[in-house]
Amino acid sequence: MSRILFATSEAHPLMKTGGLADVAGSLPRALKSLREDVRLLMPAYPDAIARAQHVKTATRFDIAGYAITLLETRLPGTQVKTWLVDCPALFDRPGNPYLNADGEPWIDNAERFHVLCRVAVEVACDRAGLDWRADLVHCNDWQTGLVPAFLQGEADRPATVFTIHNLAYQGLFPYEKFVSLHLPPAMWTHHQLEFHGQLSFIKGGLVFADRLNTVSPTYAKEIQSPEFGNGLDGLLRHRSTALNGILNGINGDEWNPNRDEHTAAPFNANTLTGKTTNKLALQSAFGLVQNSKPALIGNVGRMVEQKGVDLVVQALPQLLAHPVQVVILGSGATIYEDALTELARQYPKQLAVKIGYDEKLAHLLEAGSDMFLMPSRFEPCGLNQLYSLRYGTLPIVRRVGGLADTVIDASPSNLVSGEATGFVFDKATKDALLTCTERAIKCFGDQKLWRRMQRTAMRQDHSWRHSAHEYVSLYTLAMQAAKSKQKA
Ligand code: ADP
Ligand code: GLC
Repeated sequence: MSRILFATSEAHPLMKTGGLADVAGSLPRALKSLREDVRLLMPAYPDAIARAQHVKTATRFDIAGYAITLLETRLPGTQVKTWLVDCPALFDRPGNPYLNADGEPWIDNAERFHVLCRVAVEVACDRAGLDWRADLVHCNDWQTGLVPAFLQGEADRPATVFTIHNLAYQGLFPYEKFVSLHLPPAMWTHHQLEFHGQLSFIKGGLVFADRLNTVSPTYAKEIQSPEFGNGLDGLLRHRSTALNGILNGINGDEWNPNRDEHTAAPFNANTLTGKTTNKLALQSAFGLVQNSKPALIGNVGRMVEQKGVDLVVQALPQLLAHPVQVVILGSGATIYEDALTELARQYPKQLAVKIGYDEKLAHLLEAGSDMFLMPSRFEPCGLNQLYSLRYGTLPIVRRVGGLADTVIDASPSNLVSGEATGFVFDKATKDALLTCTERAIKCFGDQKLWRRMQRTAMRQDHSWRHSAHEYVSLYTLAMQAAKSKQKA
């Protein structure tokens, strides 16, 4: 058993903007079931405090000029002890944890997540008055990137793992922040925290963590190339022996078509009739004509370039020439929100778009759609294609990152062998997306074949069982690496 401090900026159901929250909300529980002593640390956003139960004050201390209260609770629905960093000046703000109401990053994000990192160090080194010391800190994305940088100077320090959930978000700030945060001057070099004249939080993780990983084997390779490396591919190649890919798992209790409180009817791989009930409920929720016959194509996600939403916008007019319906839920860049809303106005019988964030509707969309469109330009892992597989909603995806690792294309040979679970295309173009979707629509016409693919998809095991073991092995490697570095 190891003592693991899992540091994150979001965790479902306390706070969620995307897949990181899903992972932080489910991996610690899986680790706990493997008998690891795992504790979660995240900011005490007002929504998080409101959603937490039995919250009590664990300790108070000052750090970096801020008075901190650590609130103690359990991650809802689990036994995972959770510490919420209560610092009203930094975290007592409604809405999105990273952006203000205008969609701009909060101007003090550097201070906010610097404090989160400092608190993680104090907790991990047993200086927070909790009578608990970490053997390892598991850091996630740039918001926790400074933790390995701070810890490397500590005597008898815990080991560190840094997980890259998305290399495109790096936590870059002007040099003035490096000065005002009083970061060690020796770290201002491009070998450490400097990135082209800016302070890079993510480099703290990439340079200093004992082990690095990302959330799929393919993305772990891709980010070592200029195309996907976001300027950090050189550093990642340099650290390639300490870097691997571990596929995300899913929370199979929450995402279970047979027991999903957000859907209209249960179903499973043996009895798929409930899926039709969900399809009709989904059409009704989106104001489309209820009809079980036409293929219903769904999409949920952040409307940003990463997700290939621009390709969807371009492809829709031609796609809607087919007898299909399309439902889209999401929010993001105004340009895509507006373009999709306008298309829905032009094709009211076939296309419905809801702008916003709606957890319940996301579940119904997975349950009721026949296909799930996910044409990402890059995708570290992706969770929606995993939910789709589980719900017999065959994914149409681009062959990148975790999508390439989890969806098996309906090629003639994969159809013959019975392995196919979805539809995969290569180029990030409207035409490639269209051709692939047309292939899916044709397959849908053969309902016997479709059912077979659905059953294969639904029987894939994307629970945490396997991946949580891989994290435990990764922690062992990180602890060995930390020990030998400290001896040297
Ligand atoms: P990313 O983290 O890049 O956004 P993932 O596929 O890993 O992509 O995870 C996205 C998560 O956020 C999924 O659980 C998805 O259902 C959820 N999600 C994204 N947008 C919305 C939305 N508008 N409403 C409800 N859930 C959403
Ligand atoms: C990021 C990635 C997504 C991944 C998620 C959780 O947000 O964009 O692909 O599934 O993190 O690891």
